[in-house]
Amino acid sequence: MTITNGTNVDAKTKPQYDPEFTANVLKATGPNSNSRVARVVGSLIQHLHDFARDVDLTVDEWMMGVNMINRAGQMSNERRNEGQLLCDVIGLESLVDEITNTQLIGADYEATKSAILGPFFRRDTPPTTNDTSIIKTMPKDGEVTYMHGIISDAATNEPIERVTVDIWQCSTNGLYEQQDPDQAEFNLRGKLTTDEKGYYGLYCLRPVPYPVPDDGPAGELLQLLDRHPYRPAHIHIIAGSNKYTPLTTQIFDRSSKYRDNDSVFAVKDCLVVDFKPIQGNPKATLELVYDIRLAKKDA
Ligand code: BEZ
Ligand code: FE
Repeated sequence: MTITNGTNVDAKTKPQYDPEFTANVLKATGPNSNSRVARVVGSLIQHLHDFARDVDLTVDEWMMGVNMINRAGQMSNERRNEGQLLCDVIGLESLVDEITNTQLIGADYEATKSAILGPFFRRDTPPTTNDTSIIKTMPKDGEVTYMHGIISDAATNEPIERVTVDIWQCSTNGLYEQQDPDQAEFNLRGKLTTDEKGYYGLYCLRPVPYPVPDDGPAGELLQLLDRHPYRPAHIHIIAGSNKYTPLTTQIFDRSSKYRDNDSVFAVKDCLVVDFKPIQGNPKATLELVYDIRLAKKDA
């Protein structure tokens, strides 16, 4: 389908569409609809109708969007979630993540901020021991990093024992292990538990920037918007224990390209970290110290 440069609707001559139309659609919702569903879908209908009127959306343009959503569904499976990726490139997952965490924790609470989960987490990662390496397939250009920190209570600063810390990252070719047959299973994934001092530690790679998969509708959208698909170098973290609100976040290398223009809008200043040269540790050339502050569930 070709895209024209718009319908050239002049503000003065802009057509007046049926002023009752949206109200009639909203009125169709029945009294037995769940109140949250009615509110969410009602607001969605209102905004979609306002948007269609605002841009004088044509049938061809609407159909192009419908086709994009259909193709995203058709190419999705357990390894690929194209619908989520479409939401990511328009910033929706990041926005919803911020809304959800603000509700759970409160905007002013000094807990570590969240960032989106992304599509490459594996729940079935086996437990790993502190201070071991998560590098199972070492790339030629990998820079081994000793990453460690203390997990503490955001309100009391007390260290928290027995927090489960999931960490995952892609290799230096920009691929996660499930995308790359040349990497061992669970390469660059760790599931650690903090000790009585709240300590976690592991050996990982300095992360690199990589493109989100751009061979589907999300990639087409990026092209249509004259945007690149790259994410800045980052490491994913999920930290949780039963008394604390689980934290899903990412940390970003300060020196990374794309830090100021992440294709999925996940970067927050407070999540930017420094990889520093390490001395006296034969297992690594870099060190990354990253402490995490968790909020109590009832905070
Ligand atoms: C990721 O960081 O793994 C990711 C996030 C959003 C879309 C694609 C990948
Ligand atoms: Fe990632």
